[in-house]
Amino acid sequence: MKTHHVPEDVKQEIEKLVKELNYHCYRYYVLDAPVISDEEYDRLFRRLEELEEKYNYVLPDSPTQRVGAPPLEKFEKVRHREPMLSLDNAFSHEEVIEFDKRVKRFLGLKESEEIEYTVEPKYDGLAIELTYINGILQRASTRGDGYEGEDVTQNIKTIKSVPLRIEQVKTIPEEIDIRGEIYMYIEDFEALNRERADKGEPLFANPRNAAAGSVRQLDPSVTASRKLHLACYGIGAVKGIDFESQWEFINWLKEARFPTPHNISLAKGIEEVIRAIREIEEQRNQFPFETDGAVVKVNDFELQKRLGVKTREPRWAIAYKFPAHQGTTKIKEIIPSVGRTGIITPVAILEPVQIGGVTVSRSTLHNWDEIERKDIRVGDTVVVERAGDVIPHVIMVVKEKRTGKEKKFPIPERCPVCGAKAVREEGEVAVRCVGLNCPAQVRERIKHFASRGAMDIEGLGEKNVELLYEKGLIRHFVDLYKLKKDDLLKLPRFAEKSAQNLIDAIQRSKSTTLSRFLYALGILHVGEYTAKLLAHYFRRLEDLYHVTPERIMDIPQIGEKIARSVADFFSDSENLKTLEELKSLGLKIENPDFETEKTGTKPLEGLTFVITGTLPKPRKEVEAMIEEHGGHAASSVSRSTDYLVVGESPGSKLEKAKKYGVKTISYEELTEMIKGRTK
Ligand code: IVH
Repeated sequence: MKTHHVPEDVKQEIEKLVKELNYHCYRYYVLDAPVISDEEYDRLFRRLEELEEKYNYVLPDSPTQRVGAPPLEKFEKVRHREPMLSLDNAFSHEEVIEFDKRVKRFLGLKESEEIEYTVEPKYDGLAIELTYINGILQRASTRGDGYEGEDVTQNIKTIKSVPLRIEQVKTIPEEIDIRGEIYMYIEDFEALNRERADKGEPLFANPRNAAAGSVRQLDPSVTASRKLHLACYGIGAVKGIDFESQWEFINWLKEARFPTPHNISLAKGIEEVIRAIREIEEQRNQFPFETDGAVVKVNDFELQKRLGVKTREPRWAIAYKFPAHQGTTKIKEIIPSVGRTGIITPVAILEPVQIGGVTVSRSTLHNWDEIERKDIRVGDTVVVERAGDVIPHVIMVVKEKRTGKEKKFPIPERCPVCGAKAVREEGEVAVRCVGLNCPAQVRERIKHFASRGAMDIEGLGEKNVELLYEKGLIRHFVDLYKLKKDDLLKLPRFAEKSAQNLIDAIQRSKSTTLSRFLYALGILHVGEYTAKLLAHYFRRLEDLYHVTPERIMDIPQIGEKIARSVADFFSDSENLKTLEELKSLGLKIENPDFETEKTGTKPLEGLTFVITGTLPKPRKEVEAMIEEHGGHAASSVSRSTDYLVVGESPGSKLEKAKKYGVKTISYEELTEMIKGRTK
């Protein structure tokens, strides 16, 4: 770091900005109680960036250091100075009481004497160790095998609730290893999976895998894009500070602005421990994250030391595991179910079973690969899990219960609904019905079209769609807009009022937004997220007619598979005819998602940029900056590129740009354009 030529007042301003920004980060990400607006935060952040760049003076705990590290080739190994242990489990309250007895026996205490324990939720995530030297975060490592983990410092720094410096406390220890769990909120996990499903990417099985996968990532910018949380609960090697108990340590962590476990309590005696466990168990459904248990720890560090460790688990702690939301039942039948895109999914019909207060009688089996992998057969006894609001799924087959009468369920060769061929494409897991007019697909497509996130036609649920289809009133969603009240009144289910309501709801749905409409069309691989992206980049529906896959792939978040599917849809003349017909029936589409409609013209409006070489800022940031100012950041040079932004050691894009006569500019020129001086 060059530190000369930095005027004293600039140094002071930088220090002040770093302190302020870190404080606001803490307010926002740890306390969830911000005291300034996002805009104000951004303003301070930009000011700091400016000064750091101008004077080449960057403090180690500057918030600008959270992002921007380049992707790694591989993770370096890190040896933990003190091993990271695991926990012994208890599966009943009795086993927790047993644990308390063991502790007393080992310490030579009387049964009647009471020990103090802390009780904390058990976070279901990835254990990590944060090493601070003289208060500065030096390294973050995964648990690994307990002795040796991986260096994930750059990734962990992107998590905003991880303090980059220990502040606010009287004693800053020379060295301290702080342990905790990186985890993901259920809501963020579900949103992430929806996004991945939209993009055709493999899904994470649970929040824990999503958190672990996000941290064990060679590219820190991917980690930065995931919403991750930290809870600190443990201590490793330490020098220069002494704690007497877990409770004291946790309070020190809080003071030092570390996130600590929610609902932690100090319990005197085992009865209070059991009460605290019950409390966590009662509240766990309201926690925004998943916990599978409570961790009970002897509070006094001196006692912890005396109790010590047996092989890999400390004698001073135990994890009480909550009863899982699982049940055992039998598969009565497997039925293939056809979705709106023609994908045929196997569904298990179960003997009804109570799981966590809910009767479960069917469970998705996902696809035929899954059936094969788990060797699921009709008649099998299976373990079913229901987590949160998620559709129940089969975890495993209880093979010991097999009688020999169980039957394998073959991949269907024909669609169970229309009898057309069922095919499985190269490299795909999905089995698809090829029947274009398959009634199952048509009905599912209409249901999807009318659904909440799509055209939102109230009163047009599953049952009414089935009825209208059966009576031959609708064969396609276009027919909805041709429905007459008299048609409905002829049906058993409709009276004057209900018929009018449905007609009104259909009429109302005619005013919609482009993103809703694109989603409603049910284009293969286009979910809500992709639909929003498309609406963000294309002003009008007509701008998508005959669009090329290349143009769509210019949208940074969209890959080839989705781009092809969208381009295929909009190159099909039948589809375009349908869209025109909808318009002639009075469909009105607004587009509030289009980037310039909200903010008026921006300096880079309508211009396409491509970046080559190394710029002073990480590429992702520069791209974001271009987009923010109305420009479009594309990944490859084409004739429609307006500017190539050239950094150090540019790649082959420069030659291509010259060939196409694309103008080239420097990073500085780009920032000038944004300021609006030249164009
Ligand atoms: S204490 C020796 N406290 O559970 C102490 N662990 O099964 C070990 N975990 O590797 C850690 N929440 O990843 C502790 N409040 C908590 C925890 C917790 C989750 C995880 C941690 C550990 C695993 C052991």
